[in-house]
Amino acid sequence: MSKKFDVAVVGATGAVGEIMLAILQQRSFPIGNLYPLASAKSVDKKVFCQGKNWVVQDLDKFDFSKAQIGLFSAGGLISEKYAPIAAKAGCVVIDNTANFRQDKDIPLVIPEVNPHAIGGYALRNIIANPNCSTIQMLVALKPIYDAVGIRRINVATYQAVSGSGKAAITELTQQSAKLLNGQAVDVAVYPKQIAFNVIPHIDVFQDNGYTKEEMKMVWESQKILEDKDILVNPTAVRVPVIYGHSEAINIETKRKISATEATQLLSAASGVTVIDKREDGGYATPFVEATNHDDTFVSRIREDISHEKGLNLWVVSDNTRKGAALNSIQIAEILIKDYL
Ligand code: A2P
Repeated sequence: MSKKFDVAVVGATGAVGEIMLAILQQRSFPIGNLYPLASAKSVDKKVFCQGKNWVVQDLDKFDFSKAQIGLFSAGGLISEKYAPIAAKAGCVVIDNTANFRQDKDIPLVIPEVNPHAIGGYALRNIIANPNCSTIQMLVALKPIYDAVGIRRINVATYQAVSGSGKAAITELTQQSAKLLNGQAVDVAVYPKQIAFNVIPHIDVFQDNGYTKEEMKMVWESQKILEDKDILVNPTAVRVPVIYGHSEAINIETKRKISATEATQLLSAASGVTVIDKREDGGYATPFVEATNHDDTFVSRIREDISHEKGLNLWVVSDNTRKGAALNSIQIAEILIKDYL
């Protein structure tokens, strides 16, 4: 009988936690016992995975020595407190928050980009999952980076509200319903109304005028590519989409690459689907193509008419899957295959 692993899902009742449970089932992850963990208010709720109902337990009372793998997605403060406790108890944490991503002794991993980094997990028993926007950007850019080098990335994101959790999904849907009925909206999760609007602000402002979401794309790209010289200039924007982040990316490569060559490389790349027909509807969109799919979709591949070594791409992916739950579970799959 093949080896099974006891898995704790921290934040199992949340927007990403629920997708984690679905993906564990879809990919037949070899689960022995499953421990769905959440706050005291969710205790005794049941979640379904791999043919069984599992009872949600209180994170605060859980003994992490019972689990070999902990998939954390309950927010940065929860990870800050409980991930070291779990790691010390012998549970390898795969953390979906920003809390440990810049720690030098914690690997930051996208399986299609830097799977070798997983080997460093043993230093702290924690592996960090990158930010959703960084993951889809680097999945799409790594084949080009390897082929011709990339000097600079300019990127504008169009990010779905599910990245802010279930409360944000509710805020968008309720605001939309109220506006369509001529009623005033409540604003709670975001600083401004998100329905029928866009907000050029994600996470807190930094001293340099960029937001933390934007700087995460800079810091994480440099760490994952092990390239402190790569230049990244992001603008992160929240849009009234429930699932699926989009990115308009312009890169300056070190050697020129044509749109045809880039298309060929991306068509052969793992985890990438190219949809680029240069006709009405011949491109990927976050809801219609990306939602509920594992791949990162690349469209609108074209040479930059303003720069000899410039290339433009439109990149969309399901932020709750490849941007969060799926990437974590792909890391766990490599971990159990090669290390545990
Ligand atoms: P709960 O549903 O019990 O509040 P989302 O990202 O959709 O907002 O979900 C956040 C997840 O993190 C939920 O599963 C939530 O559980 C969990 N969570 C939030 N705060 C705590 C806490 N203090 N202790 C344990 N789990 C928490």
